[in-house]
Amino acid sequence: MYYRLALIGYPINHSLSPWIHEHFLEKANLNGDYSTFEISPDDSFSLKVKQLMNDNVQGFNVTVPYKEKIISFLDEIDESAEKIGAVNTVVNRNGRWIGYNTDGIGYMRSLESKFPNFHQDKAKRILIIGAGGATRGIYHALVQSGFLNIDITNRTTEKAAEIAKLKSDATTTNIFSLDQAEQMIKNYDVIIQTTSVGMKPNPDNIVFKMNELKETSIVSDIIYQPLETRLLKEAGEKGVGLHYGHTMLLYQAQYAFEIWTGLKVPMGSMDRQLKHKLE
Ligand code: ATR
Repeated sequence: MYYRLALIGYPINHSLSPWIHEHFLEKANLNGDYSTFEISPDDSFSLKVKQLMNDNVQGFNVTVPYKEKIISFLDEIDESAEKIGAVNTVVNRNGRWIGYNTDGIGYMRSLESKFPNFHQDKAKRILIIGAGGATRGIYHALVQSGFLNIDITNRTTEKAAEIAKLKSDATTTNIFSLDQAEQMIKNYDVIIQTTSVGMKPNPDNIVFKMNELKETSIVSDIIYQPLETRLLKEAGEKGVGLHYGHTMLLYQAQYAFEIWTGLKVPMGSMDRQLKHKLE
């Protein structure tokens, strides 16, 4: 069997996915390739997608700006992709195209790889900063994993309230402005930063300063360029647990690869290799 895999999106020339999936193919001892298939806004999306689907690919990833647009071309989407409203992984199963979203599960896997006991206390207090596309996946995965207290803060609080509609009956979610959240930061055991604030080319930016962090807390930032955001650096100086964005990238890819091939490839030294590549 030869695995033909691809990525669609725009722009995608700087994507790290080909590097990651070619490593997985090699580690899993499978024959195949992972190519980029850029679809520019001037192209006909429909024509391009059909061309890709007729080209004998077993699966493909979907990135910005097509994660929602792809849905109408699929035969089926899994429950979490439906709840999140976005698909980032598509697989061809006996001629049927099925869409998944691996962000949330990938995020949970990456967190557990660093903090193996993360799941033990479902009552821990979690704060998500931001309410974009990635947040939906992460919030949904936390709810599905049974976490009970997940608050959201965002510059635009209406967007946070929209995401909180994904809660279960057991979940309590309060919505806060950024100013309110800043004042309450010491109440949280886990803080997950999902906004674009602090991303290159503005690495000096910080969504808010976290002066009074609880010593035992975990601070997570899904930004991976820079590898260590200012927020993580300052949190690290307070001795809290840190979780880095590039690990989410690796584990969401691991889950996508598993959907395509049935194999969960152990991460081995890829964390270190990707870090090196991003430095
Ligand atoms: P993604 O889909 O990658 O998560 P997104 O949908 O563009 O990205 O979301 C970006 C997030 O960063 C949002 O939470 C956005 O806040 P708003 O919902 O208020 O727009 C947040 N964000 C971006 N720039 C920001 C800034 N300067 N200050 C605070 N939050 C910001």
